[in-house]
Amino acid sequence: MGRMWALGPDLEVSRIGLGAWQFGTERWGYGSDFTREDAIAAIHASLEAGVNWIDTAEVYGDGESERIIAEALGDRIRDVVIATKVAGSHLRYGDVLKAAEGSLRRLRRDWIDLYQLHWPNSYVPLEETLKALEELLASGKIRYVGVSNFPPELTEPLRQALGGRLVSNQVRYSLADRSIEKHILPYARRHGIAIIAYSPLGQGLLTGKYTRDSLPEDPIRGDHPLFRSPNVDRIFEVVAVLQELARKYERTPAQIALRWLIQQDGVVAIPGAKNAEQARDNAAAMDFSLTPEDWARLSEVSRFEITYFTE
Ligand SMILES: NC(=O)c1ccc[n+]([C@@H]2O[C@H](COP(=O)([O-])OP(=O)(O)OC[C@H]3O[C@@H](n4cnc5c(N)ncnc54)[C@H](OP(=O)(O)O)[C@@H]3O)[C@@H](O)[C@H]2O)c1
Repeated sequence: MGRMWALGPDLEVSRIGLGAWQFGTERWGYGSDFTREDAIAAIHASLEAGVNWIDTAEVYGDGESERIIAEALGDRIRDVVIATKVAGSHLRYGDVLKAAEGSLRRLRRDWIDLYQLHWPNSYVPLEETLKALEELLASGKIRYVGVSNFPPELTEPLRQALGGRLVSNQVRYSLADRSIEKHILPYARRHGIAIIAYSPLGQGLLTGKYTRDSLPEDPIRGDHPLFRSPNVDRIFEVVAVLQELARKYERTPAQIALRWLIQQDGVVAIPGAKNAEQARDNAAAMDFSLTPEDWARLSEVSRFEITYFTE
């Protein structure tokens, strides 16, 4: 299995990309837990380890994530695949065009490789959003379109209109939450739409560094259903197997968890990182394989349904 996946005929991405929500986001501890220099070092470390793309969004750090990426890459910005997103609140025709201009300006770039609709918006007719996307594609300001958090019924009209230019759905997917396997993943497979797995480390839970008594308390994770019973108890059962396999493969639990994802056709993952060490650790998930038996064992132990009614 190769390290790259073709999102489109001329758009290849490494199986591991770098998620950039953390950069510029105080709720993730930016400015207290880690610095701008750490973020920049994480970007450089990712590229050195074979990652060729970064996932960001206009809303991340209120634009700061895109600015940090531009600063870190300098002249190399054109050599790296950039995926960004228009906010769900910006899906009106004029707003999409304005949002794209804003991202291009902050990224200091003439085009966006993958432009994703961050969340669906039931108040805006899809045709309005489509018209803007078609114009952006025609002008070359964006090369491909992706959706994020879109169910099949909302993806299908876009697919019919855009054909091969709609290439991905970015959704929460990991050994801690496999909900997308019911509807979203089979639909994507059927139509050759790639799954970009976000929160692929269960927002840190699958790294094995947290215990029941030491869960993160930041505003992003403190109240998240993944970090509460009964979900967290089931996830710790997965973590125990990740730790066992980490010893067997001489890898980290994070690498095993990421490997389980990217060993599937049509799935790429974008772990977030707060520093170079985490970025390097995550990128190395591309350097080994799980045996089919170990892959299946992880599938078995993670076969539970996440509940949103938590204690
Ligand atoms: N489209 C959407 O709606 C959406 C939603 C969420 C995320 N995303 C995208 O997906 C990316 C990743 O998702 P995520 O940030 O939610 O979750 P994640 O990648 O599962 O977890 C990231 C966090 O895990 C910890 N971590 C990462 N690598 C580690 C390592 N090797 N060892 C130990 N700890 C490590 C870090 O936090 P600590 O060190 O503090 O534990 C890091 O902030 C985001 O950056 C963003 O680009 C998109």
